[in-house]
Amino acid sequence: MAETSHGPASFWTQADALLRKNLTFQKRNIKTNIRLISFPFILCLLLVLIQSLVNHELDKPENKCGCTCIDTNGDGKCEEVCGLEYSTLDQGSWCAIPKPPEWPPLLQVPAPEYRAVTSDVIPFSDLPNESCKRTGSCPVTLLFTGNNQSLGEILAGNMLTGSVILNSSTFPDSLANIVAGSESKPQYSNFLDPAFYSDLPIYNVQSQCTQNSTFSADVPILSFVRKQEIRCVQGLHLWRNSSSEINNELYKGYRKGNSERKINEILAAYDFLNTNRNNFNVSIWYNSTYKNDSGNVPIGLLRVPRSVNLASNAYLQYLQGPGMKIEFEFVKEMPKHESRLRLDFSSILGTLFFTWVIIQLFPVVLTALVYEKQQNLRIMMKMHGLGDGPYWMISYAYFLTVSLIYTLCFVIFGSVVGLKFFTLNDYSIQFVFYFIYINLQISLAFLAAAMFSNVKTATVIGYICVFGTGLLGGFLFQFFVEDTSFPRGWVVAMELFPGFSLYRGLYEFAQYAFNGNYLGTDGMHWGDLSDSKNGMREVMIIMVVEWLMVLFVAYYVDQILSSGSRKSPLFFLQSFRKKKGSSFRAPSLQRQGSKVFVQMEKPDVIQERERVEQLLLEPNSSHGIICDNLKKVYPGRDGNPEKFAVRGLSLALPRGECFGMLGPNGAGKTSFINMVSMLKES
Ligand SMILES: *[C@@H]1O[C@H](CO)[C@@H](O)[C@H](O)[C@H]1NC(C)=O
Ligand SMILES: *[C@@H]1O[C@H](CO)[C@@H](O)[C@H](O)[C@H]1NC(C)=O
Ligand SMILES: *[C@@H]1O[C@H](CO)[C@@H](O)[C@H](O)[C@H]1NC(C)=O
Ligand SMILES: *[C@@H]1O[C@H](CO)[C@@H](O)[C@H](O)[C@H]1NC(C)=O
Ligand SMILES: *[C@@H]1O[C@H](CO)[C@@H](O)[C@H](O)[C@H]1NC(C)=O
Ligand SMILES: *[C@@H]1O[C@H](CO)[C@@H](O)[C@H](O)[C@H]1NC(C)=O
Repeated sequence: MAETSHGPASFWTQADALLRKNLTFQKRNIKTNIRLISFPFILCLLLVLIQSLVNHELDKPENKCGCTCIDTNGDGKCEEVCGLEYSTLDQGSWCAIPKPPEWPPLLQVPAPEYRAVTSDVIPFSDLPNESCKRTGSCPVTLLFTGNNQSLGEILAGNMLTGSVILNSSTFPDSLANIVAGSESKPQYSNFLDPAFYSDLPIYNVQSQCTQNSTFSADVPILSFVRKQEIRCVQGLHLWRNSSSEINNELYKGYRKGNSERKINEILAAYDFLNTNRNNFNVSIWYNSTYKNDSGNVPIGLLRVPRSVNLASNAYLQYLQGPGMKIEFEFVKEMPKHESRLRLDFSSILGTLFFTWVIIQLFPVVLTALVYEKQQNLRIMMKMHGLGDGPYWMISYAYFLTVSLIYTLCFVIFGSVVGLKFFTLNDYSIQFVFYFIYINLQISLAFLAAAMFSNVKTATVIGYICVFGTGLLGGFLFQFFVEDTSFPRGWVVAMELFPGFSLYRGLYEFAQYAFNGNYLGTDGMHWGDLSDSKNGMREVMIIMVVEWLMVLFVAYYVDQILSSGSRKSPLFFLQSFRKKKGSSFRAPSLQRQGSKVFVQMEKPDVIQERERVEQLLLEPNSSHGIICDNLKKVYPGRDGNPEKFAVRGLSLALPRGECFGMLGPNGAGKTSFINMVSMLKES
């Protein structure tokens, strides 16, 4: 600072001074800073705690493959063996299954109380009488339609056989020979068929039941034998004139909650369309909502193959005679590895929490900038020769460094405590994402700072933005992202709001971490950015473009509004014109006022100084006040450099002249007047 009187300070001197100023400011706000930094740490620890509670909850026997103790050597000590054989229905899907069991294909038979009977809601009288419901002996109904009724009747008749004598020693294979079904609801996978795991009977659908057609049989499943009731149920096939009639009948018979309305469920419905001797064309209705309540995936499909096979067999027998058939022996799943139920709740919650963590830097930068404005620090620094360029570069770099360190600590801490959100996703993507966002956020803070002049207002609004963005993201924006029917264009439009683009990015990290954890694989990699469902790429593009735009606009607005010199909104055009036009320009009064203390080499300043020197050499009484290189210096304190309040002011005021002094705050007007009046008094 020593050589300031010879010209502006070097860039590094300015940087150094600004850094000291910022550090002093941070030191004064130490409490706020500690709160700020501890926030992410506390959130991370909270997530770890929640996750460990969840893990504890998940670590229950039904979420693992079933095990049992077997005394293999006969020495009284038992060995734990795990596998499908020892599992319940719930446990089975977690086991390692190198050789999946084969299950006879079954039809979905409505439970006796739901089977279709005559009722006032359905206009068909050919359905069985309602009285059968009391005895639980209602027949099950198959519906048919097509272009040719006589053909339809033949095919329907081929589907259901007369009474079959079952040979229990060949179970379960012989179940493929009868039209078997179950009212149990299929599971998400078919590793274990609940039909053979429950006490519900296996139904044998026949055109007519004989008296003794219900019996128990030993059905060997996996490594043990289970007693299973095989119960005959009569199958009715009824013709309908069109598929719309069938639709109507199915629609009206739909079960809804526990309502009082009549329920009419049917076994299956077929539309034989234009089927004839040379052409087999069939539509089959099935009920995809048949599922066990624990799952929410439509899995009624597992019971569809047999109804297709039934139609094919009927057609084949129509063409070739009753001896022909396509035997459908079993359905089985593909082999699989052992898995466990792993749910990473910390990632799901993390999206909202981490949005707050990252976005809370915004009010910090904003208030620091507004504080400089409110306290006129910016103008003072300008008075001391700090140019706009260095101010911007240095402040920007300073906030960027602080934000980067903060984010880095946050990610490192999150990884150390083992949050999957951080550990599973590629760190380079995380770095790029946070880096871009932080830059955007700092630029936004610079832009927003132009709108505030009061630190308190800025703080309040800044924190409203923080919490508002997080909550809106979590409870509004996320639903739009997840709703696949919502137009993607609108989602992208919402992401133009920087808070939402941050939320979306963190949401993608969370989804990838959650899925990776669930499947036991990794999170997001660069390759995943090309996935059209992954919003990360568009978010990054939006953020980069916004960053550059906002930065430009912020600098522009700052140039117009910067409190020192009020420029016209088209200032850059002027400077452009200036470069092209003549170099002569009459300095405006205002400019003179603000620059006189800063740039000593201005011609009018030099002229004034020369006049004073002249007057000192040849004193006369025509001037009331003569100041020669008047200075006021405050000594350096707290490691701050010494501060010039008035720096080498030379001035000669003629008697009887009215002198006005213009200049922005901190230019030294008061100091000068104080000094001059003090001199007079003494
Ligand atoms: C309907 O099917 C029967 C039985 O195959 C056949 O004899 C008859 O010609 C078919 N009718 C029409 C109109 O195709
Ligand atoms: C059942 O099948 C086994 C083997 O195929 C045969 O030995 C037995 O006689 C059959 N029993 C009846 C009642 O048909
Ligand atoms: C649904 O599954 C549970 C256990 O997973 C079982 O106890 C219940 O019987 C099943 N319900 C039906 C209708 O299959
Ligand atoms: C179905 O068609 C037959 C013959 O064309 C007719 O007698 C019967 O009334 C029709 N049924 C309905 C419900 O329209
Ligand atoms: C389809 O399945 C659902 C769920 O079990 C049941 O509520 C509904 O009544 C069924 N609809 C028909 C037409 O069978
Ligand atoms: C099967 O039926 C559908 C519906 O009537 C029809 O659009 C399609 O052309 C038919 N296919 C054949 C091979 O006849």
